[in-house]
Amino acid sequence: MATAVSASGGAVAVLGSREGSADGSSARKSAVGLALRYYWGELRRQWVIAVPALTAPALGNICLFYLAPLAVAGLVGHLAAGGDGSVAALLPYVLGFGGLLLAGEVLWRIGLHFLNRTDARGIERLGVLGMDELLTKDAAFFHDNFAGSLTKRVLSFSSRFEEFADTLTFSIMAKVVPLTFASVVLWQYHPLLVLVLVGLILVTGFLVAPLIRRRQRLVEEREAAKVLVSGHVADVLTNMETVRAFAAEDREATEHRARVAEQQRLSLRSWDYGNLRVDTVVAPISVLTSAVGLLLAVALRGGLGVEAIVVTFTYYSNTISIMFEFNQIYRRMESVLTEAAQFTELLLVPPTVVDPPDPQPLRPADAGVRFERVRFAYADGPPLFDGLDLDIPSGTKIGLVGQSGGGKSTLTRLLLRLMDIDDGRILVGGQDISRLRQADLRGLIAYVPQDPAMFHRTVRDNIAFARPGATEAEILRAARAAHVTEFVESLPDGFDTLVGERGIKLSGGQRQRLALARAILRDAPILLLDEATSALDSESELLVQEALWHLMQDRTALVVAHRLSTVVRMDRLVVLNRGRVVEQGTHGDLLQADGTYARLWRHQSGGFLIEDDAEDDADAEDDAGVEDDANVEDDETSSALHR
Ligand SMILES: Nc1ncnc2c1ncn2[C@@H]1O[C@H](COP(=O)(O)OP(=O)(O)OP(=O)(O)O)[C@@H](O)[C@H]1O
Ligand SMILES: [Mg+2]
Repeated sequence: MATAVSASGGAVAVLGSREGSADGSSARKSAVGLALRYYWGELRRQWVIAVPALTAPALGNICLFYLAPLAVAGLVGHLAAGGDGSVAALLPYVLGFGGLLLAGEVLWRIGLHFLNRTDARGIERLGVLGMDELLTKDAAFFHDNFAGSLTKRVLSFSSRFEEFADTLTFSIMAKVVPLTFASVVLWQYHPLLVLVLVGLILVTGFLVAPLIRRRQRLVEEREAAKVLVSGHVADVLTNMETVRAFAAEDREATEHRARVAEQQRLSLRSWDYGNLRVDTVVAPISVLTSAVGLLLAVALRGGLGVEAIVVTFTYYSNTISIMFEFNQIYRRMESVLTEAAQFTELLLVPPTVVDPPDPQPLRPADAGVRFERVRFAYADGPPLFDGLDLDIPSGTKIGLVGQSGGGKSTLTRLLLRLMDIDDGRILVGGQDISRLRQADLRGLIAYVPQDPAMFHRTVRDNIAFARPGATEAEILRAARAAHVTEFVESLPDGFDTLVGERGIKLSGGQRQRLALARAILRDAPILLLDEATSALDSESELLVQEALWHLMQDRTALVVAHRLSTVVRMDRLVVLNRGRVVEQGTHGDLLQADGTYARLWRHQSGGFLIEDDAEDDADAEDDAGVEDDANVEDDETSSALHR
């Protein structure tokens, strides 16, 4: 075991020194170290089965390759000494030989029995642990990491444990333990036999180490080429519709061919290096070792006898396989730990949005929301909010409008504490949200995101997600209120229809209605709707609006909308511009004030577009997004609702 650790520890050191920058290098080293600790910890945790798993094959090998030859040597020695050659006299040797082979096989079966269990339990536990870690990550983490790559990393982290344990068992323990045994036996004959054998193995190790390290660079280039191939494949597959729409299949296929060819070239180069450079050093030394072993045995024969020649020759031949293992062990451990480290490096930066160590019990005075001097900036960006104040008394319905990119969605995410603010406070019912458990806070809020995605589950499961344990009647009521029932009836399996990855088999408006049904079922005191009806046609929107209006009674609501008709009835409208509240008031107040809102309203109700563009030259840049959106708005709805 000790040797095993140092072997993999060596891999860590070499791996760690690969990266160019000091920062990257130390992060990588820590990630590999962490991966190793997880794997090693897993073996220790289940030591009761791990110890027999690691040792039984090694003991089996001793029986098969070191003890059984002793029986043969004994027989040869017996005959050479002119002993009785009858079958009866030789039978004990033969039985001993057979018995040892049998014992070896039995030990191997026992070892594999325990190894299978060690592998399976380790993979299970690490799989659970990996997912648990990902579930604690904050929103920023998922903005920075792609789902595809995370999936691959977390699954490899657990599955590669199998190769880790197998390499430890088959390539390290099953070789090193018998070597120790062989040394003890050979020492009895002559210490020189041991010194030469171990010496030559060590020499091989020293000669091969720098070559293996040099091969490392080639392996890195090969792996980088692989990432380029898989990145391109994933990118094309996720954008398949765009590829088709632009008839770009051939272009993408050509690109793919080039990348695969490069991967092929680099793979071959790294493999050839292993075969032509590393093994060309090992091969002659291994031949030399066998020959030297035989020579020594013969030279020392005087005191040893023919038996020793047989044993020495056999032991030398068996142990030289360890020389070829150096490269293999390194290759396997390196690839295992590199892949595992791709996951553990994600754990080096702890999640920023975490529950406080001593959370306050949830006892909101009401359902009011307050933003106090809130400062927030996305990583590496300028502050989006700087001293933002916004008060939403309990039971008020607020419409949040303003230019695209103004920070409306960000504000909703901050209230949900998907990200943490840099300064200031956000209060819900008088309680600072950073002092609450995240689950408690989010239990108060029903949220419909701007671009709702669905699970690849049934329509029913997608709605029920909002409230586990909801009854069928409650789910149906929510579905009816959000006008989901209308389109579900035309789906092949009704509420049991699977909606495709991210809900791809539904239209944008249908997804939105499902998201609304979720919010309705959630039945929380605070409603957070981010463009919740933007993808609906005017008629459906009108229907859904009525349902929402009903839902909002006696609740606090924050409704983000570009289509101003959606929010005219709100108690108060807040106009957000570049992270600042530039205007507040009712629809009537704001029209009268004749500011940004009034101008937006005129754009959307038509007529003043050209005139306004000329007029507001200074604001043109700020409002570009709004104008884009406004131009596609539906005038009919505006007039319909603006009664
Ligand atoms: N994950 C992110 N990382 C960095 N910057 C971001 C991120 N998400 C949004 N931003 C930036 O923050 C600003 C505000 O974005 P936000 O989505 O809050 O705007 P919005 O008002 O909801 O716009 P829209 O009306 O188009 O939905 C934008 O400039 C955007 O580029
Ligand atoms: Mg938005």
